[in-house]
Amino acid sequence: MNAADVIYLPETPAHDPEIDHINEEAFGPGRFTRAAYKIREGGPCERALSFVATYGGVVIASVKMTRIAAGKGRGLMLGPLAVRPDYMNVGIGRKLVRMALEAAHKAGAPAVILVGDEPYYGPLGFKRIPRGQMSMPRPVDLDRLLAVEFETGAVAKLTGMVDHEDLATEGERLKLAALAEA
Ligand SMILES: CC(C)(COP(=O)(O)OP(=O)(O)OC[C@H]1O[C@@H](n2cnc3c(N)ncnc32)[C@H](O)[C@@H]1OP(=O)(O)O)[C@@H](O)C(=O)NCCC(=O)NCCS
Repeated sequence: MNAADVIYLPETPAHDPEIDHINEEAFGPGRFTRAAYKIREGGPCERALSFVATYGGVVIASVKMTRIAAGKGRGLMLGPLAVRPDYMNVGIGRKLVRMALEAAHKAGAPAVILVGDEPYYGPLGFKRIPRGQMSMPRPVDLDRLLAVEFETGAVAKLTGMVDHEDLATEGERLKLAALAEA
């Protein structure tokens, strides 16, 4: 394959079936039980900040971004990131992560978090989130909670349980409504 012929595009609904297939191949049925999957179930992903790599018109890799909230902090969660086995180790994964980070930064996201391997994501700018600062809706290895900060102090504000931002906003709205009624 010629890496120069790989085309990177923002994700659209037309890519969904191929992306599902790539994630099934990469993570198997266990993907539905992951903490990050549970958070993503809480609302839509950000299509404009999510990207696919195509080769000969076929989707060969994907990265998604989802808005999240934890405590007073807001940000994006990167993932899943997956590359089809025939196309691994030629830089496609790293390129997708860099594109997603650049788009997130331009869109004004204060921080981007993920659950992943530090040896892979560290050189792309991710650092460990201090253990115990944040918790996930399902068990994760806390050393795999990583973040990139675009706004100073943005990661420190991410405390407690991580949720999809839409759920957190709805929770806040209900709390305020209950207070107004009391
Ligand atoms: C992890 C993954 C996305 C990497 O994509 P890729 O396009 O193959 O990776 P790149 O070409 O950008 O980078 C390759 C380099 O990363 C290294 N690498 C790959 N996976 C790694 C991991 N989990 N931890 C550390 N290094 C890793 C490779 O050894 C290679 O190193 P080199 O450049 O020194 O040779 C891909 O292997 C994949 O889809 N894996 C299955 C799904 C998965 O694990 N996704 C990540 C979830 S957090």
